Amino acid sequence: MIAARVMRAMATPVFGHLDPAFIPLLDDVRERLKRLFQAPEGSFMFAMSGTGTSGMEATIANLVRDGTRVLAVVTGYFGEQLVEMCRRYRATVSRVDGEWGRAVDPEAVRVALRTSGTGAIDVVACVHAETSTGVLNPIREIAALAREHDALTLVDVVTSLGRHPVDVKGWALDAVYSCTQKCIGAPSGMSPVAWTPLAHSRRVASRSFYFDITLLEDYWVRRKYHHTLSSTLIYALHEALVALEEEGLENRWERHRRHHLALVRGLEAMGLHLLPPAADRLWTVNAVRVPPGIDEAAIRRRIVDRILDRNWRRPRSPGRQDLAGGPDGIQFDAPLLLLFLSALEHVLRTAGYKCIPGAGVSAASDALASEGEIERAGQPS
Ligand SMILES: Cc1ncc(COP(=O)(O)O)c(C=O)c1O
Repeated sequence: MIAARVMRAMATPVFGHLDPAFIPLLDDVRERLKRLFQAPEGSFMFAMSGTGTSGMEATIANLVRDGTRVLAVVTGYFGEQLVEMCRRYRATVSRVDGEWGRAVDPEAVRVALRTSGTGAIDVVACVHAETSTGVLNPIREIAALAREHDALTLVDVVTSLGRHPVDVKGWALDAVYSCTQKCIGAPSGMSPVAWTPLAHSRRVASRSFYFDITLLEDYWVRRKYHHTLSSTLIYALHEALVALEEEGLENRWERHRRHHLALVRGLEAMGLHLLPPAADRLWTVNAVRVPPGIDEAAIRRRIVDRILDRNWRRPRSPGRQDLAGGPDGIQFDAPLLLLFLSALEHVLRTAGYKCIPGAGVSAASDALASEGEIERAGQPS
């Protein structure tokens, strides 16, 4: 959910996308993105207009042409999307398929690259955080293997950038894209991209005009018209990046790790299990196995419609201005985590699921207290 300060930033008067007063903000966004991605010197940092899929398309459109040899690592829905898009750009795609719900074994990638032979694969494409299964793939190891075989890496960090470590320079990634609406904390509509000097040196002539990196660089760096960027979305992205740096990137990673672990403790105390094994889990998406006989869609609808919306997300009536800021200011913090578990227990038990009342909240609150996130009963405040 989006912080109130980010929502407020979008009320800033709209500047033209080439207005001299707007340009310093764009430059600052690029600098902040460089720090967030930990991108090497000389990288072209920008935010593509559109959602995460637009960053996927921008990176593919500039690295893939007829016959480009792509090795796609597929462990879920978004890996399949990478394959589909590379095929539409007429790549010759080979695949390493991992079991859905498990991180891919880098050994499988090593074998595929070795079988193809050095120089036989141009691009290794992989999703870092596979949202569809809640799995984190070992991108660092995959990128090192790609480098050994002189292949570039094209990486989707849509569900990781900002909440899991991503180190474009340290891991030697080449073309990397994300989105604004998940881990960065802004509305959807922009897709931050890190395009390194190596990616640039191997770019292909883009068959897409809109996604042409050279034309995009003309705008972002050389201030030449390409398309009309939304300054409102840039204000939001900028404010979200400022908030992120105020918290500190490592603090934010750590906060999400702690909350993930506390949530898992709570879920397990309720007898629920996550799909991926502990070592493969995302901190940002917790994929829970649905107990037999439970209608998962109905449970989700009840939690969102009847509990979370009722308390936070519904627009306030004009008579409740005292509560303004509540609906959009909500962050997934410790109290919300406990509220969520209690709501989940309530709706599951109403649907006939058997678990010890209060067990989830109690286990999660113990985990949060042991990390100093909330006070234990009797502890001085
Ligand atoms: C891993 C991953 N990649 C790509 C996308 C596509 O992003 P968008 O829906 O913002 O276009 C998503 C969306 O959920 C995603 O989770």
